[in-house]
Amino acid sequence: MLVNAKEILLNAKKNKYAVAHFNINNLEWAKFILEQCELDKTPVILGVSEGATKYMGGYSVVSAIVKELIKNLNISVPVVLHLDHGSSYESCVKAIESGFTSVMIDASKYSLDKNIEITKKVTLFASKYNVTVEAEIGKIGGNEDGNENDIVYADPDECMKLVSETNIDFLAPALGSVHGIYKGEPKLDFVKMEKIAKENMTPLVLHGGSGIPDWQIKKAIECGISKININTELQIVWSKAVRLFLNSDEKVYDPRKIIKAGEKAIKEEVRNKNILLGSYQKV
Ligand code: 13P
Repeated sequence: MLVNAKEILLNAKKNKYAVAHFNINNLEWAKFILEQCELDKTPVILGVSEGATKYMGGYSVVSAIVKELIKNLNISVPVVLHLDHGSSYESCVKAIESGFTSVMIDASKYSLDKNIEITKKVTLFASKYNVTVEAEIGKIGGNEDGNENDIVYADPDECMKLVSETNIDFLAPALGSVHGIYKGEPKLDFVKMEKIAKENMTPLVLHGGSGIPDWQIKKAIECGISKININTELQIVWSKAVRLFLNSDEKVYDPRKIIKAGEKAIKEEVRNKNILLGSYQKV
C-alpha cells in the first residue's frame, strides 16, 4: 500500500521507534526490500536520490516500478516513495507529479531565510497532492551523489523557526552524521537532538544511518529520531555477496543471477535494521 509518511512517522514518534528509509538503485533493490518488509510486517520508506532517479530513467519510471511491484507482489504494508535530497523546487514538483508520496527539499546549502522560502514553496505545492515534505538544516557530512560536504551542526532555534514557518512534516537536523563511510566513531550531538525533538512536534530524521554503532542508533531513537536513512550498508553487503559469487564461478554471465546473488544479503540487512530500529512487526 503506497502512503505518504505522515501517519507512519507520527506512530513511530509516539511509540518510540524509527522507520527505516532504504535507498533504492534499481528494480531489484526495490523488490528485495519490499518483499522483506512485507514478510516482517514493517512499514518502509523507499528513498530515491536524484542520481538514482536519473540512473533508473526518470521520476515516472521509478514511480511505475514501485507502484507495479506493490500491486504485483501484493505488498500490504505501508510503503512511502520518497525523493531523497531534492535539490530544487522543480525536482520536487517533478517527483510529486510523477506519483512520489513524499519529498525531501534540501535547501540546507542556502541561508536560513532562503531555506525557509524554498521549503515553504514546496510544502504549499505538496499539500495539494497530500504529499509529505522533509527539510534539512545544518549540513550532513560525507559524499552524497558525488558531492562532498563538511559537517555543520544544526542550531535548535533555527530548527524551531524552519518548522514553524514552513509546515513541513519531518525535519532532518544535521547533528554530526555523514553519508557514506565514517572516518572513526560518529560524534552525534544527542543533547541538541533531544532539545530539538522536545521543542518540535515534527518527527526527526537521521541521515547517514550506515556505520553508526547500534547503541548510538538506539540512543538517537530515545532522543526523538523517527526516521533513519540507510544506503551505504545495503550497498556494501550487496557488493560483497556479488563479488564472492563472481569469484566463485568464472563462467557465470546471466545478469539476473549476478544481481540476485546479493538478494539474501540485502534481505538479511533489511531485517536486522528493522529489528534494531524497532519497526519490525509494527504493522
Ligand atoms: P548512508 O550513506 O549512511 O547509508 O546514509 C544514507 C542517507 O542518509 C541517504 O539520505
